[in-house]
Amino acid sequence: MDCFQTICCLKGSLGHQFLLFIVWLSSFQVAVALQTLLEPSHVSSTSELATPPNFGIFGPIEISPAILPRNPYPDESLAPMYPTFPTTYKPNLTGKCPVNFTALSNIIDKTASDCSQPLAALVGNVICCPQLGSLLHIFQGYYSVNSDKLVLQNAVADDCFSDIISILASRGANKTIPTLCSVKSLNLTGGLCPVKDVVNFEKIVNTSKLLEACSTVDPLKECCRPICQSAITEAALEMSRTQLTTNDNEELVTEHNRNDPLSDCKGVVYSYLSRKLSADAANAAFRTVSACKVNKVCPLNFTRPLEVIKACRNVAAPSPSCCSSLNTYMAGIQNQMLITNKQAIICATVLGSKLRQGGVMTNVYELCDIDLKDFSIQAYRQQGCLLRSLPPDVILDNSTGFSFTCDLNDNIAAPWPSSSSISTLSLCAPEMSLPALPTSQIKNPGNRGGELELLVPIFSFFIFSALLY
Ligand SMILES: *[C@@H]1O[C@H](CO)[C@@H](O)[C@H](O)[C@H]1NC(C)=O
Ligand SMILES: *[C@@H]1O[C@H](CO)[C@@H](O)[C@H](O)[C@H]1NC(C)=O
Ligand SMILES: *[C@@H]1O[C@H](CO)[C@@H](O)[C@H](O)[C@H]1NC(C)=O
Ligand SMILES: *[C@@H]1O[C@H](CO)[C@@H](O)[C@H](O)[C@H]1NC(C)=O
Ligand SMILES: *[C@@H]1O[C@H](CO)[C@@H](O)[C@H](O)[C@H]1NC(C)=O
Ligand SMILES: *[C@@H]1O[C@H](CO)[C@@H](O)[C@H](O)[C@H]1NC(C)=O
Ligand SMILES: *[C@@H]1O[C@H](CO)[C@@H](O)[C@H](O)[C@H]1NC(C)=O
Repeated sequence: MDCFQTICCLKGSLGHQFLLFIVWLSSFQVAVALQTLLEPSHVSSTSELATPPNFGIFGPIEISPAILPRNPYPDESLAPMYPTFPTTYKPNLTGKCPVNFTALSNIIDKTASDCSQPLAALVGNVICCPQLGSLLHIFQGYYSVNSDKLVLQNAVADDCFSDIISILASRGANKTIPTLCSVKSLNLTGGLCPVKDVVNFEKIVNTSKLLEACSTVDPLKECCRPICQSAITEAALEMSRTQLTTNDNEELVTEHNRNDPLSDCKGVVYSYLSRKLSADAANAAFRTVSACKVNKVCPLNFTRPLEVIKACRNVAAPSPSCCSSLNTYMAGIQNQMLITNKQAIICATVLGSKLRQGGVMTNVYELCDIDLKDFSIQAYRQQGCLLRSLPPDVILDNSTGFSFTCDLNDNIAAPWPSSSSISTLSLCAPEMSLPALPTSQIKNPGNRGGELELLVPIFSFFIFSALLY
């Protein structure tokens, strides 16, 4: 089964019942490589080919998934298998969070599918946690909309936080997301930020400037020329400074230094923004801002590549043992999680510098044909899936299950660092010269000179469950 990805068995809590979750990674929607594009007969009939291929760079297209679920064990007589869509149920609420969640239903559904049970850990860093954070900010703004407060009291924050997680779980989200995403009820309380109400907030912060900067955030510019992020930081700084000038209590000051009031105040700024912006505008702004943060770091866990160093040191020409060792190492990385194209560039550089530090001076990526997409989860041996730098939400379709869109901008060689230090890496400086950066939406859509449209594989995850004895 070439599209088979992982099986994990979860021991059920009831007696000897087991739940078998099989996550399918299938891209029935053919991911067309360059050669295939030149042979149109191989393109599946459901594919869309926007423009005839030219040459050069790859551009993204979104296509809808067309997928057939199949039984992974046709010869085994397991209990009936069927695609499971999130089983929704009525959540068990505390009854102590005085909020009508109906108004937040859309954003809660979006978050639940972004953090859906089997996918949460795979997309946690790039999709689920950013969306969960955004939901918490929006909840905070919504909670306080009829009062002067911008934050929740500690006790009610616990109840509301627990209700939010229960509701998300009741709509298919993984219950472990607070741990996965390092969020807790304190995220709703404003922590040690000294400003927690609207009157003082508006006294201290230039709110027209803040709202102007954050009401629409340009995803293509924000990460390199931050406007909303700067406005948020500036507002949070002004608020946290208020504490230090109006309160000379030394003990408090040390406590604040330890606990990062700036970060707490940023939470209050988000709450204010949520109050003033529509849920959709706020969500879009928060997701863009968090994507900027996410794209600065490679989230993969690289163990020390000792074997690779041993096999590849002093290698100058293609060497089977070096490449096989590198491929083995890469296969381990590929199981970890989905990452964005920008993260892949950083990851390639991080691994490259580890190798250089170990004395591997030749560009082994080139030698062994390692592409950027090799740093992400693979559907077939050669088809990596990198997300766009602004990762779109997970799509939940009630006939096909979960899917998400990959970006094939990434079909380029992994960059080999020019030194063993990664401190010089900037994805902004020569902004447009990085081939894997997203193409501008602002660009005239008719102007596709030099670009090759590729079909984007949609990796669809099918979840089947079966009860075994
Ligand atoms: C709901 O939660 C409360 C407290 O955790 C528990 O006592 C109660 O049995 C639960 N109700 C259901 C239907 O699960
Ligand atoms: C919650 O709000 C919705 C409309 O936004 C309303 O239809 C519903 O009755 C409210 N529920 C409660 C318990 O107030
Ligand atoms: C929920 O996520 C955790 C990781 O945070 C994972 O270990 C677990 O398997 C997931 N649960 C399901 C049912 O997929
Ligand atoms: C939650 O709080 C922690 C600790 O204060 C902070 O680091 C994190 O960024 C917060 N998360 C969100 C989504 O606000
Ligand atoms: C707020 O910021 C705007 C620029 O965005 C500026 O024109 C205005 O004077 C500022 N207001 C105050 C009170 O500083
Ligand atoms: C990284 O992977 C190693 C080995 O698989 C594991 O022991 C370690 O805990 C991981 N670190 C993190 C931060 O996940
Ligand atoms: C799928 O969703 C559509 C509308 O969103 C609905 O009409 C249809 O009944 C749903 N089908 C199933 C099997 O849930």
